[in-house]
Amino acid sequence: MGLTLTEKILRDHMVEGESVKGQEIGIRIDQTLTQDATGTMAYLEFEAMGVPRVKTEKSVAYIDHNTLQSGFENADDHRFIGSVCKKHGIYFSRPGNGICHQVHLERFGIPGKTLIGSDSHTPTGGGLGMIAMGAGGMDVAVAMGGGTYYITYPKIVKVELTGKLNPWVAAKDVILEVLRILSVKGGVGKVIEYCGEGVKSLSVPERATITNMGAELGATTSIFPSDEITREFLRAQDREADYKPLSADADAEYDEIIEINLSELEPMAACPHSPDNVKKISELAGMKIDQVCIGSCTNSSLLDMLKVAYILDGKTVDPGVSLSIAPGSKQVLNMIAENGALSKMIDAGARILESACGPCIGMGQSPNSGGISLRTFNRNFEGRSGTKDGQVYLVSPEVAAVSAIAGVMTDPRSLGDMPEFKLPEVFTINDNMVVPPIEEEKMDTVEVLRGPNIKPFPVSEPLLDEIDAKCSLKVGDNITTDHIMPAGAKILPLRSNIPKISEYCFAVCDEEFPKRALDLKRSIIIGGSNYGQGSSREHAALAPLYLGVKAVLTKSFARIHMANLINAGILPMTFANEADYDKVDQMDDLYIANVREQVKNSDIIKITDKTKGFEFEAKLDLSERQRAMLLAGGLLNYTKENA
Ligand code: F3S
Repeated sequence: MGLTLTEKILRDHMVEGESVKGQEIGIRIDQTLTQDATGTMAYLEFEAMGVPRVKTEKSVAYIDHNTLQSGFENADDHRFIGSVCKKHGIYFSRPGNGICHQVHLERFGIPGKTLIGSDSHTPTGGGLGMIAMGAGGMDVAVAMGGGTYYITYPKIVKVELTGKLNPWVAAKDVILEVLRILSVKGGVGKVIEYCGEGVKSLSVPERATITNMGAELGATTSIFPSDEITREFLRAQDREADYKPLSADADAEYDEIIEINLSELEPMAACPHSPDNVKKISELAGMKIDQVCIGSCTNSSLLDMLKVAYILDGKTVDPGVSLSIAPGSKQVLNMIAENGALSKMIDAGARILESACGPCIGMGQSPNSGGISLRTFNRNFEGRSGTKDGQVYLVSPEVAAVSAIAGVMTDPRSLGDMPEFKLPEVFTINDNMVVPPIEEEKMDTVEVLRGPNIKPFPVSEPLLDEIDAKCSLKVGDNITTDHIMPAGAKILPLRSNIPKISEYCFAVCDEEFPKRALDLKRSIIIGGSNYGQGSSREHAALAPLYLGVKAVLTKSFARIHMANLINAGILPMTFANEADYDKVDQMDDLYIANVREQVKNSDIIKITDKTKGFEFEAKLDLSERQRAMLLAGGLLNYTKENA
């Protein structure tokens, strides 16, 4: 039997385990990336491991999240990351060079390699035929130190693309269609592999839009084959030597098959407040809008910008609309400046932002109260825009640009004929904003620069033998990492200061929680299903750790967050009988005896609700290694123990 592309790359990187679906495997990681919001902590962790130089083929640190300075904190973080990189063998992409995933695609990604990044949209690299996954910062630190990365051997979904996109229908509409079919939970435990004739009509940046937003499916990652289109892209980036053809065998077997005829797709939008709440633009057309934001790691490539500039050319942004545009990288910004596209945008009245995450991470451009915002981004969870009652619709750059002119949601097909937009044969290449590390012999000459906002991360204690703790918080279904640890301009600068950032933990759900948890010293959180969906933000585990949370008991977990909890040494359990969720209340006294023994040897944990006087069972769905990690008190303790 032939192999899927995913199976081939995993097989070539496997260092532990076997290709059995649902079982844990360990793989070798070739490349890592970090962004600044999660990177500071990842590098503090890397330092704590005491490994002098990274052992990966290439590790890159990007500064793209916290780039609007207001106070010393961000600047201190950037300096800290820059100096750690120089010393320990990591490439440093300076602020202004662009969004991590866009730059990594352009300058570093290589077909067939494995990449983990401390950012949930790392699967963008799948557009180049990589196995690229979002991970916790601690996992990235361990991989940089030469450690193995563990995943559950995934199920593989084939998405067979046929046909060709019609004019003004975009790659964004392809992934919105996949989200509509599979939902935000539909990709959990799966890799989404794109195949079929339709693949050939999509450029690498378009493929990357699709794999980027595959993160919203909850998927482990998404991947496209590496073919002549990939070769052309790499050649244009002066990296043809990195090319390698890769595809699934013709007789490969998949766990699920979805067919999408590109010719039948229409422009679509993900409506508030979930990326899978997808409707056709034709159903939404005419809706008055207040704001349009174009950019983010999903849609900020040169191709996207060229289409936007074409639509804006000679027009004026509607007086009722604020339009902002953030090109994804210095390369993209430079090229649209050179070819005049930027001038068309400025002329139309667009507000040009720096090449960074910007509004996607709540750095400016929050919509007006109750405002309707069209964004080319990948997430529209409630409150993420910085305006509590903001209504965010996720759309393609084409829909965004044409609607900004019209002042109402508009179907771009109304533009009529579409010219052919092509990527250039040669991109403008200048890597002067990527600082290479110093030679190993000279590393002792580099001083790591730490400001007062850089505090050591909380190290957890080995798992207790008995947990006697109150339930400090009970929350419902679909709690996101934005609920647990919000982002936003006020909070992001505190990412390297866990004691301070913890004051905002769960503040959107219950302002009293941080103080209550600290006062209790030890506590347990109760959650509903899909707890921790959203980003790879490990602060959503580190803040609860600092606040004394010993266990989280839910109906179900999102994959990355559960891994982050284990890394932090917090016990993740699920209700054996979901009906018990309704019986336990906040502030109930919960008791677990012989915790170490149970975690070591059992899939069931017995819990007593002392307040209500009943006993119930929770499930533990853990590998041997995860159990060992929890017993040690988290990944860092475990790595030290096993070093
Ligand atoms: Fe940045 Fe938003 Fe992507 S925060 S990395 S642009 S999802």
